[in-house]
Amino acid sequence: MNGELLYLNGEFLELREGRVHVEDRGFQLGDGIYEVIKVMNGRLVWLDDHLARLDRSLAAIRLGDALEDHDMGRILPDLVARAGLGDGSVYLQVTRGDAPREFPFPAAPHPTVLAYTRPRDFPLPSFITTGITLHPVEDLRWGRCDIKSTNLLAAVLVKQEAQEAGAWEALFMAPDGTVREGGSSNVFAVLGGVVRTHPLDRHILGGITRLHVLEIAHRLGIPVEERAFTLEEVRQTAAGDCEFFSASSTTDMLPVVAIGGVAVRGGRPGPVTLRLLDEMRAELAALAGREKPPALLGPP
Ligand SMILES: Cc1ncc(COP(=O)(O)O)c(C=O)c1O
Repeated sequence: MNGELLYLNGEFLELREGRVHVEDRGFQLGDGIYEVIKVMNGRLVWLDDHLARLDRSLAAIRLGDALEDHDMGRILPDLVARAGLGDGSVYLQVTRGDAPREFPFPAAPHPTVLAYTRPRDFPLPSFITTGITLHPVEDLRWGRCDIKSTNLLAAVLVKQEAQEAGAWEALFMAPDGTVREGGSSNVFAVLGGVVRTHPLDRHILGGITRLHVLEIAHRLGIPVEERAFTLEEVRQTAAGDCEFFSASSTTDMLPVVAIGGVAVRGGRPGPVTLRLLDEMRAELAALAGREKPPALLGPP
């Protein structure tokens, strides 16, 4: 096994053997939802949180009973074990299945349920110390960004644009100038020692990593405010007491050192970010049954 294996509607197959109907509504209409779960040392990270969000996404698109015959809490660990996957991720997708192409729901949908494993390298500590750059873009997505929908065209276009601009990730901006989230990540600023992030509403995805960043901050006694902020606020404090970072399942947390070509904190990751990241890396290592990695943040 090379660490890659597919579960498709009850069967385990080689990834390249998987076939989905051309009239699958996920393919034609984006009528589906997905999850991406990190795997470390063969263990699915924060699986219960991902399964809870999966249920919420399915309920939101009125496909609440799609997984009746697929016990994902059992199937996913089985898939990872059969694939012989150590470190990597699982991509899971549920669509309203195939039916003659019409917009309203088919009378008796038979959902397409799939998940596959993929071996993957995660960001190296050296990359974490270098930090990433963000490219601000207008948020042209729909009004239900809280649903983890497979309609990702806006993210595809802005992430391509970010790459062409030499940035690592796009940054979705609201028309009023507030910062929403990354192309496929949540973002946080540390302004005057307070961790700030956009509140949970229909404009952002409730990231699982975001949830754990906030939990860790609470545990460490670092003040948190789920309140939107502008790039202006970041820039005004940029020279001094300001940090910025992103968070997602496959990247954990990454320090942001420049936004739209303007350096944050002189282009160096900040101490609050590194403290949170050290704690997250320790938590992930414990979940994976591994030794705690060396601290990124030196003693004060
Ligand atoms: C738009 C968006 N926001 C945030 C996230 C981060 O979510 P999570 O931490 O659950 O991976 C993602 C992940 O793909 C995303 O696509």
